Amino acid sequence: MRILVTGGAGYIGSVVAEELLLAGHEVVVLDNLSRGHREAVPKNAELVAGDLADRNCLDQLFRSRSGSASSSASPSTFSSSSIDAVMHFAALIEAGESMKTPETFFRNNTANALTLLEAMLAAGVKRFVFSSTAALFGNPERTPIQEDDPLKPTNAYGESKLLVERMLAWLHRIHGLRYACLRYFNAAGASRPDKGEAHDPETHLIPRILQVALGRADHVQIFGSDYPTPDGTCVRDYIHVSDLAKAHLLALEALGKQQPDSKPLIYNLGNGQGFSVKQVVEVARKITGHPIPVLESPRRAGDPAVLIASSEKIQRDLGWKPEFPDLESIMESAWRWHRSHPHGYGA
Ligand code: UFG
Repeated sequence: MRILVTGGAGYIGSVVAEELLLAGHEVVVLDNLSRGHREAVPKNAELVAGDLADRNCLDQLFRSRSGSASSSASPSTFSSSSIDAVMHFAALIEAGESMKTPETFFRNNTANALTLLEAMLAAGVKRFVFSSTAALFGNPERTPIQEDDPLKPTNAYGESKLLVERMLAWLHRIHGLRYACLRYFNAAGASRPDKGEAHDPETHLIPRILQVALGRADHVQIFGSDYPTPDGTCVRDYIHVSDLAKAHLLALEALGKQQPDSKPLIYNLGNGQGFSVKQVVEVARKITGHPIPVLESPRRAGDPAVLIASSEKIQRDLGWKPEFPDLESIMESAWRWHRSHPHGYGA
């Protein structure tokens, strides 16, 4: 199949693009490169440096590929066939940031997703895999969280993604769009020593901790030590990026087998185990051998106290099984990447 991967120059999208290529698919990456990295795009994928807000660009992409204004990493992958399915990763992802400028999250994550969906529908493309999030759940009523638990985001990031899930449900009902929503818990780790997480600015816990181990920062801040958790710090369920990527391929395959009356595929993706911020720092100390000083700081707005997934549904329905479920192997893979690329893709 020929798959359009939006945000395929980003952390998760680029790993999925690589897995798709390995599985024999053709991949077209659409990325505006505002956050992503050209170097992260697999060399056998075609890179279109364009923006989701640009409906003309999308229309061209969904029409014939020949003659479009793209920069191709591999001209041999250029064909005139249309897109068979879309995997949509391109989005702003920092939950904390969304509490400062929610409007940019609704523009980038919600409005741009609608533009993409409109262009897809106009072109008759009816398979969509959506990069959704645990942030939909807000402060959960029970743990581990199941897919049909209440959706009550505590930050604008989660709301911006929830609105997309809601639009998808209507497009399925009215236009027969087949879709999967994969609700990631905390993506972490590196798929290869030369491919990993590189955000600028970096806000995520594991890379920030590893920056301290690399000597690039003096300490890591702990945002809030007064949460109702055993050690007072927030608890998250960390999932290896390669395990996330595999779930996307399973979802795509399952969409291909669906009947017109089949239900959308909605899945949580985590390991079912929570680690507090302090526990994550402890694991990093063990892996890196660095003391990693911490500074207890005020809470970050919008952070739920505990997010732990039940991924039983995707295990049962699609046979997904994480290969790297333990935090130590996730941290080790992240450490290999950060140690060899202390400045990300830039150096
Ligand atoms: N944290 C710190 N210090 C830091 C960075 C983070 O204490 O320097 C804390 C946060 O307050 C939070 C936890 O570490 O309690 C994890 O924070 P991250 O920023 O690494 O991740 P989030 O849980 O905020 O969000 C991530 C993704 C979202 C996704 C969510 C799902 O960025 O896209 O996981 O759980 F929705």
